[in-house]
Formats: sequence, structure tokens, C-alpha cells
Amino acid sequence: MKVLETYEGTIQRELYSADAIAGAIERLACEIAADFRGQPLLLLGVLKGALYVVTDLARAIACVENGPSEVVVDYLCVSSYGNETRSSGEVRLLKDTTETVTGRNVVLVEDIVDNGLTLEYLNALMAERKPATLRSCVLFDKPYHRRVDVPLGYVGLQCPDEFVVGYGLDYQEVFRNLPYLAQLQPWVFQSE
Ligand code: PRP
Repeated sequence: MKVLETYEGTIQRELYSADAIAGAIERLACEIAADFRGQPLLLLGVLKGALYVVTDLARAIACVENGPSEVVVDYLCVSSYGNETRSSGEVRLLKDTTETVTGRNVVLVEDIVDNGLTLEYLNALMAERKPATLRSCVLFDKPYHRRVDVPLGYVGLQCPDEFVVGYGLDYQEVFRNLPYLAQLQPWVFQSE
């Protein structure tokens, strides 16, 4: 797939193509739709990384027969990486939901789980609000450096132990709009 020349020059290899990602999202949509058949569902996208996965997932769920009775999409924004490739370990809530969570079927939608602290923080925050059900949906599971044992719910694809960008994931805020998941050339990080 042809992308910006400036992007192509910095990409070492493609890890998951746009088609592979779309296929994983379709499978996740089928699993979620089956579990919430006939019930209302609140999808909470965890920004910024989940900006594409939550919108693509919401549309894919709408295309599954006998799925939820309705789907509402809302967003949270958290950050623990800032502009670094390593997590600070401190999760900051930058924007809360606008929807009420209490009594609803909630699925937290994440692009990636790495050390697990972000999802653990959000699970605890949402659980305090007493949703009817609370699950998580993670597109890329990167299990090599987990610091907490957090349940993942729906899982899309396994992520290798590399710093990855694309499909919502950034390096210093760039590359989120790359349509596939990629590993960057090592020289990109040399100044760090
Ligand atoms: C990324 C990603 C997840 C989180 C996962 O967010 O989108 O939310 O890190 O990492 P963890 O399992 O190690 O906690 P980040 O803090 O980089 O903010 P962003 O989504 O705005 O890029």
C-alpha cells in the first residue's frame, strides 16, 4: 500500500496490513454483537489511540445480523506515554466520558495493551460507576512487559515486542493515520 513518502522512509516493516486489521475488527464485531444480542451497548473509545478502532468497530457491529439493539459511542482520553516510547507509569485522565456509565453495558475499546496500567486504571474508574456489564476490547495485545494482570475480554491481534505505529498508534503524535501497523527504523529513535 502506497503511503506518504516521509512515512515510507521511516518504516522498517509492515506488521499487519490494513486488510488484516479490518478482518480482525470484523471478527471482534461478531463476538461483541453475539454477546450483546438485543441489548443496548455503550462503546467507550480510549483516545487518542483508539480513534480508528472504535469507529471501525462500531460500524462493523452495525453490519452484524441480530446484534445489539443499539450502539452508542463515546470517548475517554488518557495518556501515560506523552511523547516518549516508554510509559511514565502514571495514567492521566485528560477527558472523561460525556455519557453516563451507570447501569449500561460498557465495552472499553483500546488500540493496544502493553504494561496494562492504562486498562487497569480505566477498569477501576468505570467499575466505580456501576455499569451493568464491563468488558474490554483490545485490537493489539502486547503481553511481554505486563506490570499488572488485567483481563482483556475481546482480543484482536498479537503485537510483537517492538515499538509499533499506525492505525491510531503514534510516535511523537505522528503516524496515527498510517493505515497499517508498522515497525519504525531504529534511527528514528536515535535522538532519544
Ligand atoms: C497508549 C495506548 C493505550 C496505552 C496502552 O496510549 O493508546 O491507551 O498506551 O499502554 P499500557 O498498557 O502500557 O498502559 P498513550 O498513553 O500513548 O496515549 P495515546 O492513546 O494518546 O497515544
